[in-house]
Amino acid sequence: MKVAIIGLGFMGGMHAQIYTALPGVNLVAVADLNVEGTHTKVAEMGLNAQVFSDLKTLLSSIEVDVIDICVPTDKHTELALTAAEAGKHLFVEKPLALTLTNCEAIQTAAEKAGVFAQVGQCIRFWPEYIALKEFIDSGKGGALKSLSLQRRASRPTYSQEDWLNNEARSGGAATDLHVHDTDFIIHLLGLPKSVSSQATRGRSGLDHIFTHYQYDGLAVHAEGGWDYPEHYGFCMAFEAVFENASVVFNSATGQPLTLTINDQPSEELPVVQPGPKESTTGEGNISSLGGYFNELEYFTNCVKANKAPEVATVAQATDSIRVLLAELESAQSGTVSSL
Ligand SMILES: NC(=O)c1ccc[n+]([C@@H]2O[C@H](COP(=O)([O-])OP(=O)(O)OC[C@H]3O[C@@H](n4cnc5c(N)ncnc54)[C@H](O)[C@@H]3O)[C@@H](O)[C@H]2O)c1
Repeated sequence: MKVAIIGLGFMGGMHAQIYTALPGVNLVAVADLNVEGTHTKVAEMGLNAQVFSDLKTLLSSIEVDVIDICVPTDKHTELALTAAEAGKHLFVEKPLALTLTNCEAIQTAAEKAGVFAQVGQCIRFWPEYIALKEFIDSGKGGALKSLSLQRRASRPTYSQEDWLNNEARSGGAATDLHVHDTDFIIHLLGLPKSVSSQATRGRSGLDHIFTHYQYDGLAVHAEGGWDYPEHYGFCMAFEAVFENASVVFNSATGQPLTLTINDQPSEELPVVQPGPKESTTGEGNISSLGGYFNELEYFTNCVKANKAPEVATVAQATDSIRVLLAELESAQSGTVSSL
């Protein structure tokens, strides 16, 4: 399978490392507006990929099966439509797009072209979050009573032209960061009846959002913000409380996923780490790539098997944007948004 990455920045580089470690997958090309910097990065990473300045030139120069879009979010739709119209299977980074109209345009283009498409909602593939879903589905802890999720970070400073801090391009932390937890909540529980949000404003628009999701008989809350001081780092966390158990995870503590059940002492809840222990390039440990590895392994296996992906589909990612937009509306209006 021949793959091309569009945008070899932070995420494109991560995907390139993973494709190199996946058997039967060849990263044959990359396109990036920054051609010179991309040549350097390709050489530094030891990739055997041709470099182009843009998607259209790449499509007219080299044969590929898959286009993986890792450009700033405001450019996803235009490039996804071009790639779908050229008959290429699509992997599009999250958030799928900033408006429902654009999400739906990507869905329509993929359907019309008969190509497969998956979105980078990687938390659906993250080992600790998979283990939580399996524990909920097992019923071993009794009914889920409450779920609280956090995603907190220092302000991102690395992005090309600082696009992440431009609300019109990224949607700010309320969209770019928090969409992971909105999407995971829907993956676990389906669409909420309504959402009620508060948010604080900063350099990238809505810098930190706090949302209650209304479900029958269950309290659900999520928080996402990147307005922490420079040395805060990154933390993703959740606490799930059941009739007879709790499951707790916090990436910043270095502690494993912890289960406490039936008043027994707490124990580690096993998680399945992805992939081989080392990448074939020797450039780092694949297991530290967590859900990023799992999602691309799943996607490329689907394409190899000529089977449409069923996890992190465009329709599911569109639902996440639908709920997220309701959250933004609630935060701005100060009222509850129904779905
Ligand atoms: N799944 C995750 O956890 C996760 C994490 C980070 C970023 N992302 C997403 O990945 C996408 C890329 O983010 P990033 O952090 O890699 O940004 P980045 O700024 O590090 O990289 C973007 C790259 O795209 C290139 N580019 C911009 N416009 C282009 C175009 N029209 N054609 C070709 N190249 C173009 C830039 O030159 C740059 O190299 C975004 O949608 C972001 O939200 C997802």
